[in-house]
Amino acid sequence: MKKHIKNNVYWVGKNHWDLREFHGSEYTTTKGSSYNSYLILEEKIGLIDTVYEPFSTEFIKNLATEIDLKTIDFIVVNHAEPDHSGALEALLDLIPGTPVYCTENGIKSLTGLYHKKDWNLVPVKTGDRISVGNGKELVFIQAAMIHWPDSMFCFLTQDNVLFSNDAFGQHYCSELLFNDLVDQGELWTETIKYYANIITPFSHLVNRKIEEIKSLGLEVECICTSHGIVWRKDPAQVIEKYLEYANGYQENQITVIYDTMYEGTAMMANQFVKGITMEDPLVNVKLFSASHTNISDLVTEIFKSKAILLGSPTVHNGVLYTIAGLLEFVNGLKFKNKKAATFGTYGWRDLSSKVIQKSLQEAGFEIVMEPISANWRPDEQLQERCVEYGKTFARSVS
Ligand code: FEO
Repeated sequence: MKKHIKNNVYWVGKNHWDLREFHGSEYTTTKGSSYNSYLILEEKIGLIDTVYEPFSTEFIKNLATEIDLKTIDFIVVNHAEPDHSGALEALLDLIPGTPVYCTENGIKSLTGLYHKKDWNLVPVKTGDRISVGNGKELVFIQAAMIHWPDSMFCFLTQDNVLFSNDAFGQHYCSELLFNDLVDQGELWTETIKYYANIITPFSHLVNRKIEEIKSLGLEVECICTSHGIVWRKDPAQVIEKYLEYANGYQENQITVIYDTMYEGTAMMANQFVKGITMEDPLVNVKLFSASHTNISDLVTEIFKSKAILLGSPTVHNGVLYTIAGLLEFVNGLKFKNKKAATFGTYGWRDLSSKVIQKSLQEAGFEIVMEPISANWRPDEQLQERCVEYGKTFARSVS
């Protein structure tokens, strides 16, 4: 069943309520997600993106109840990632030769993914326009690396609807569809998690892209994302929020993350929390075990933090794999404006805190204190030192 968005624009996507993981097992989707596809029913009929391949049969069946598929004049592939292009192959089998507008990089991605030489792929670039009839046009805007090199947005004139694909989305499922109707806490929790995990490495491009949209004089009244809700009420709020996220975002939060083998590293972490809270009762200090918290949630907490303390026991001349995995992920995200210090326990070689420090430095964190470590398990004296360490850390990042 199609859902009305605005004038002759409709949602024809798929809500994936029971999705619990995305990008393999990298990203938890505790509230599901959606693959948003949109139908433009002007003098010309256009389809913007499709859905994930496992739902292609259902998608095409539903679409065929809304329109005669043979009346589709064109398809836009804003982004070739299979969560959006997955139904393209089955659809084009039914309507071969239909023009598919995408970027040059989109042609490379679609060809690499589907190996079809007979698809009518039409390259477009920023500023190109096609008429959809009734005096309206679709304007294309390349958005490379938000989230793949092929990504683009398109804008429907007169209705002032921006089809932003991955940008401004959430892995969030709601039949209510619109931003003003859903639970605002859930919406913003999922919006920041999505930005932290997916968009952060491209923050410098976000600034540039938003400026470009402004310079094109496009007055955005509605943003149709490819995941989650449609921003119909005050869409500028999410654009402004993205500008905040893209420019060294931080809240008054300190996050302590550890993994532990025999509770020694956990004991240190708890003492840091005590010291930080004694020094600064207003800072939002949070404590997480890396082995009991999904990595995408840890990344979100780091994104919100002004500073982190990260620790592990020394194992095999390095750190526990949960911390190693987190460091690898964080290194790819290129966070800005973050401070850190590191800690660890060891039996015979004191390495872990130094390994973590080196990795965080390479990831762009500013190290504000020398590492602290405990031989075997911290005694009362060292635990007291950890409290003092927490106090000094809180002062040094305030
Ligand atoms: Fe939702 Fe980059 O695909």
